[in-house]
Amino acid sequence: APAQIAVTGLAVMGRNLARNLARNGFRVAVHNRSKSRTDALIEEFGHEGEFTPADDLPALVASLEQPRKIIIMVKAGEPTDAVIDELVPLLDEGDIVVDAGNAHFADTRRRENALREKGLHFVGSGVSGGEEGALNGPSIMPGGSPESYAALGPILTKISAHVNGEPCCVHVGPDGAGHFVKMLHNGIEYADMQLIAEAYDLLRQVLGLSPAELADVFRDWNSGDLESFLIEITAEVLSQVDPTTGGPFVDVVLDQAEQKGTGRWTVQVALDLGIPVSGMAEAVFGRSLSGDVVRRSAAAGVLPGPAEAKADVDRDAFIEDVRHALYASKLVAYAQGFDAIRAASEQYDWDIDLGAMATIWRGGCIIRARFLDRIKEAYDRNPALPSLLVDDYFKEAVANGQEAWRRVVATAASVGVPAPGFSAALSYYDGLRAERLPAALIQGLRDLFGAHTYRRVDRDGAFHLDWSGDRTESPA
Ligand code: 6PG
Repeated sequence: APAQIAVTGLAVMGRNLARNLARNGFRVAVHNRSKSRTDALIEEFGHEGEFTPADDLPALVASLEQPRKIIIMVKAGEPTDAVIDELVPLLDEGDIVVDAGNAHFADTRRRENALREKGLHFVGSGVSGGEEGALNGPSIMPGGSPESYAALGPILTKISAHVNGEPCCVHVGPDGAGHFVKMLHNGIEYADMQLIAEAYDLLRQVLGLSPAELADVFRDWNSGDLESFLIEITAEVLSQVDPTTGGPFVDVVLDQAEQKGTGRWTVQVALDLGIPVSGMAEAVFGRSLSGDVVRRSAAAGVLPGPAEAKADVDRDAFIEDVRHALYASKLVAYAQGFDAIRAASEQYDWDIDLGAMATIWRGGCIIRARFLDRIKEAYDRNPALPSLLVDDYFKEAVANGQEAWRRVVATAASVGVPAPGFSAALSYYDGLRAERLPAALIQGLRDLFGAHTYRRVDRDGAFHLDWSGDRTESPA
């Protein structure tokens, strides 16, 4: 029988996705530019299901039932375009091309548009969960036309992760919506990791706890509100011993965080949408600073810190404070992330169901966490929720933790430990809830130096003050 679906690009993600499909009973055609990978897959895992190896794309296309479904799993950017260009002339109307890599959603919109004009469906789909997820059940965020999802949905939901019997895969929306949501997932992943790193750093520097002791703290946190994959693996990394030195693994790792770009994209896009995503921005900047060896080495040991670098805190109380600070800051990061999804959904007419996005992320992906249920519940209560932070659950969670959060940010500042994620999140929270912001002064300044005008609290319209003359006000 002809294959039901194809995967081209058999590096570890593509290979595992193909195996996942085969293990779930789908007949999978597989192809890789260099044949050795295809051969290796068949040799090692051929027994797991029905694979049809193909030496080139025409053979891959020929082995498929119609409408054809072809998953591309190659590097984002030019390599993806190259495969699409080669594939398109081989396809027939109604065929479906899926890009499951970490593409920029703007590229996905462009490709979707180009293929639609040729009568083909192009589906940009986020896939999260790393190698392990691809094999055993990832979180899947497909975009593209509803027709394409009607054909793909039964396959994708079957191979995705499941939580309480529900698949972590939902049709996100048209064209670039799936890749946009995957990008946001990664932005949140960046923010989450930055906050975890700050919690670790503060506990270590203020309390002098060892990495092994800190692993226990995170293990303990993983049984409460913070329960999540990232907290779980934090305990694992912190308890790891370096095989060479016998000391903590974390102490032999170079402290320069790398990035492939999805976090940066999130922040760039959010800037264009006009949505503050300070949690993610601080995470990206934090990684950049960590990698800025020239300036760090010029400043380390040269720029003075506070005279008194020890805080007088109780061990258990401080651990609890940091837990609250972490949770509250995390809630802010998610609230900001969902604001960005809502704004993009409006701008691009994607009609994204925000609550469903939280459902997709409950299993399979890197940011999977218990509290995502809370996001779903919040949007169930009020689909038009202006910000997650004003939902009753979130409001109360932050209210419970805010005094602790403020103490942690104050302690970080007074002992000189950087906590950009915690403090930016707190500033955002205080900005959001402020009755009045100093933006009024900024407007005054803009009007004085550039006649940029201002609006008044008591009357409609724009006004300008004659700053260099008699300072009378006139409508602009
Ligand atoms: C996932 C991950 C995955 C990848 C990140 C890493 O959802 O499975 O997010 O996509 O691990 O893109 O990103 P950085 O290399 O930029 O940290």
